[in-house]
Amino acid sequence: MRSRSLLPLAFASTFASVLDLPIWVRNTYSVVEVNVGSPPVPHFLLFDTGSATTWMVDAECVESDTCHNGSGYPRTGYSATASSTSEPMNTTTSIDYLGGVTSGSGILDVFTLPTVGNCSSPFSWTQSFLSANQSSWTTLPSDGFLGLAFSSIADANTTTLVETLMQDGLLDSTRFGLYLGTETNDTGAGAGNGLLTLGGSHEDVYSVEGSLAALNWSSLQVPGEDAQLWRTSMQYTVGKQAKNDTKHTVTALGSWAVFDTGAGRISVPDDVIEEIYASIGMNWTAILNHDVIPLCADFTDDWYLDVFFGDSDNPTQVRITGAMLKTPGFATGEDKYCWPPFDPSGVSGLFLMGAQFLQNYYTVFDFGGSEPANYSARIGFGRLKDEYKPVVGSV
Ligand SMILES: *[C@@H]1O[C@H](CO)[C@@H](O)[C@H](O)[C@H]1NC(C)=O
Ligand SMILES: *[C@@H]1O[C@H](CO)[C@@H](O)[C@H](O)[C@H]1NC(C)=O
Ligand SMILES: *[C@@H]1O[C@H](CO)[C@@H](O)[C@H](O)[C@H]1NC(C)=O
Ligand SMILES: *[C@@H]1O[C@H](CO)[C@@H](O)[C@H](O)[C@H]1NC(C)=O
Ligand SMILES: *[C@@H]1O[C@H](CO)[C@@H](O)[C@H](O)[C@H]1NC(C)=O
Ligand SMILES: *[C@@H]1O[C@H](CO)[C@@H](O)[C@H](O)[C@H]1NC(C)=O
Ligand SMILES: *[C@@H]1O[C@H](CO)[C@@H](O)[C@H](O)[C@H]1NC(C)=O
Ligand SMILES: *[C@@H]1O[C@H](CO)[C@@H](O)[C@H](O)[C@H]1NC(C)=O
Ligand SMILES: *[C@@H]1O[C@H](CO)[C@@H](O)[C@H](O)[C@H]1NC(C)=O
Ligand SMILES: *[C@@H]1O[C@H](CO)[C@@H](O)[C@H](O)[C@H]1NC(C)=O
Repeated sequence: MRSRSLLPLAFASTFASVLDLPIWVRNTYSVVEVNVGSPPVPHFLLFDTGSATTWMVDAECVESDTCHNGSGYPRTGYSATASSTSEPMNTTTSIDYLGGVTSGSGILDVFTLPTVGNCSSPFSWTQSFLSANQSSWTTLPSDGFLGLAFSSIADANTTTLVETLMQDGLLDSTRFGLYLGTETNDTGAGAGNGLLTLGGSHEDVYSVEGSLAALNWSSLQVPGEDAQLWRTSMQYTVGKQAKNDTKHTVTALGSWAVFDTGAGRISVPDDVIEEIYASIGMNWTAILNHDVIPLCADFTDDWYLDVFFGDSDNPTQVRITGAMLKTPGFATGEDKYCWPPFDPSGVSGLFLMGAQFLQNYYTVFDFGGSEPANYSARIGFGRLKDEYKPVVGSV
């Protein structure tokens, strides 16, 4: 049974077009529930700001074990023949993600959300997505992905869910808001207190800043280029604050940050990872060689990574401290050893900001317009109020 009892009263919205989707966490993956087809069938989808195509495995693929289910969670395949509103788009595609391959064909069908705000009537629209007859995502604890990047990179002629709703005029505003919740490992048989809000945002409830204007905003705009990902240019400095230790401070230009709910961790460019670890008093090579296992006691507010997102003339600062990155259970499974704070991204200049970054903020993804022609996208961060901070060690 999903429960809405944790939602503050502030969500009693009078706008039918602000859609609050409670977040379930399954083995550190954040998923939401949507109903698909006629009659509606519930599906769980991993929402991913790092990709754009919404897809779900098809029923035959699940049954034949071609889409092998090794996640430990049940899976429901999409059945076009069982839905009276299913329509083929006559497109096919194969998508290569960093973590797997998915192939299938484009479908149009009715998506339904059980309740909207405090209204009891369901909210429905026609959505394009990929019905997958092949997927190598065997450990994915969902039926597929819900892509929240931009339709400019969506496959099989599909349009992202949020852009479909915006362009159909069904949303109250051209943004979505994200609070990942206090429980970051597993919420068990129901949703946790995390919330994905489409067509609005709740910075007033979750963030210290309290208003849209007070969030730290960065523009996505790249001259002459369509927006594809929630990506900004960035610079960074790393160091230790208590000791006034400036000799290890690193500043770099020409880097990019991609904000990706589909990624778990924070990844940094390979060519600077050694330097970043050194600046916070750790030795990356020694960790890689298993000579050293990071101690959780070393994950304190004493060290930080300051990131400056957006326009280099007027960047917005976000500070990530060691305490925010404390994740016990590395290597030996013992609580005194913590996961190394940063992974290598494998791409020069690329910083990948996954859930471990995003869980510390209330994040607003704003298209700034309802049509691609007049998008002016930006991303805003607010510091979480104490009661909404993630519970350390639950990753
Ligand atoms: C998938 O795995 C879960 C857990 O092992 C199991 O309960 C379920 O029956 C499997 N198959 C499907 C189709 O969900
Ligand atoms: C797909 O092809 C069928 C049969 O040719 C056609 O009826 C249908 O309109 C096409 N669908 C789309 C979305 O173009
Ligand atoms: C929804 O909330 C508004 C404002 O609190 C209230 O006026 C309205 O009666 C509520 N509607 C339902 C269906 O509960
Ligand atoms: C999946 O569908 C595509 C396109 O219809 C087809 O080419 C491919 O062979 C199918 N793959 C499997 C494993 O059935
Ligand atoms: C995708 O849509 C465009 C127009 O919206 C159309 O011209 C194109 O043929 C479609 N592609 C496929 C593979 O159906
Ligand atoms: C995380 O969740 C998994 C699956 O429910 C569980 O086995 C594991 O013990 C949990 N880890 C922590 C640190 O709570
Ligand atoms: C760090 O520098 C500031 C200003 O330069 C100074 O006020 C502070 O006492 C210094 N802290 C330590 C621990 O040295
Ligand atoms: C880091 O660790 C490696 C391997 O353990 C060692 O060779 C190297 O000297 C260490 N670097 C520093 C700066 O201590
Ligand atoms: C926003 O920037 C200010 C400094 O300009 C900083 O003090 C504040 O912590 C930042 N907010 C977030 C969410 O990092
Ligand atoms: C956005 O662009 C569309 C055309 O793509 C136009 O019809 C619409 O009026 C524009 N909206 C605004 C607010 O500029």
